[in-house]
Amino acid sequence: MNINWFPGHMAKARREIEEILKKIDVVIEIVDARIPVSSHNPMMDEVTSEKPKVIVLNKRDMADEDETNKWLSKFRSEGLHPVAVNGRDEQIIRKIEPLAVEATEAMFRKMEEKGINRRAIRALIIGIPNVGKSTVINNIAKRKIADTANKPGVTKRQQWIKAGSRLELMDTPGILWPKFEGEETGRKLSLTGAIKDDVVPLDEVAIYGMNFVLRHDPEAFNKFYSIHVNAASDIVEIYEAIGRVRGLKAGGNEINYEAVTSRIIYDIRNAKIGRYTFDRVGE
Ligand code: G4P
Repeated sequence: MNINWFPGHMAKARREIEEILKKIDVVIEIVDARIPVSSHNPMMDEVTSEKPKVIVLNKRDMADEDETNKWLSKFRSEGLHPVAVNGRDEQIIRKIEPLAVEATEAMFRKMEEKGINRRAIRALIIGIPNVGKSTVINNIAKRKIADTANKPGVTKRQQWIKAGSRLELMDTPGILWPKFEGEETGRKLSLTGAIKDDVVPLDEVAIYGMNFVLRHDPEAFNKFYSIHVNAASDIVEIYEAIGRVRGLKAGGNEINYEAVTSRIIYDIRNAKIGRYTFDRVGE
């Protein structure tokens, strides 16, 4: 496991984020639209429970559109303020700002009743590594922010970036650690690239991903690799078929299983076969 995720570091990160929260009006949590639940750290709900919350389903371009819409409805029904985006989209602030306004409206109205004038809405972006926090902040700031090195917590040096007409965004994100609850969560985090280290055995990740695609979209899988298999096919048979077609040999005629594993993970992680959402509403 990455050293930055040891319990001591997590407790420190939590304290740092709690400290910053005193200065902000709304939390913008970024999750991966392909795993909106698995890429969310539930402990963060305790820390941020007092704050209005915008939930950004990023990497929309790689997720199943129907499932994304189901997640948006579900989160909205839970009183959250959700939006699905592509973090690289030029107009991203136009999608996020209205949600931040909506999320903080009740609070500002109460302040106005007490005679306090409205001011800019102060927001902090949080999320686990690789969900696209820097991409979104860079995009909004129109410049490259400091490298956050994906260490849990919040960088000490903070500046506010003016974003849109009403929002001020902290220029470094709050970094959460991925949750290591259950094997399936780990596999999903690894398959989507949230965990890049070999925390989860890669062959398990590849087989999980392959089974998912074979269950939900077998035609696309067969077409992509030019093979003919199905969800009931033997794993070795599928590996051999992909290895042969892609020329992944270990010398002689032997199939290089590790290379097949890497290839399957790469193809699913980068949405080369299709757009899939691994966390399903209702499951
Ligand atoms: P982080 O700060 O949360 O750790 O994530 P970061 O912005 O570094 O994004 C992680 C990877 O996800 C980057 O790719 C980034 O380009 C990609 N990404 C972010 N948002 C989106 C999105 O909405 N759609 C897609 N398809 N990709 C997104 P990378 O391969 O690590 O780097 P690079 O390709 O940008 O060089």
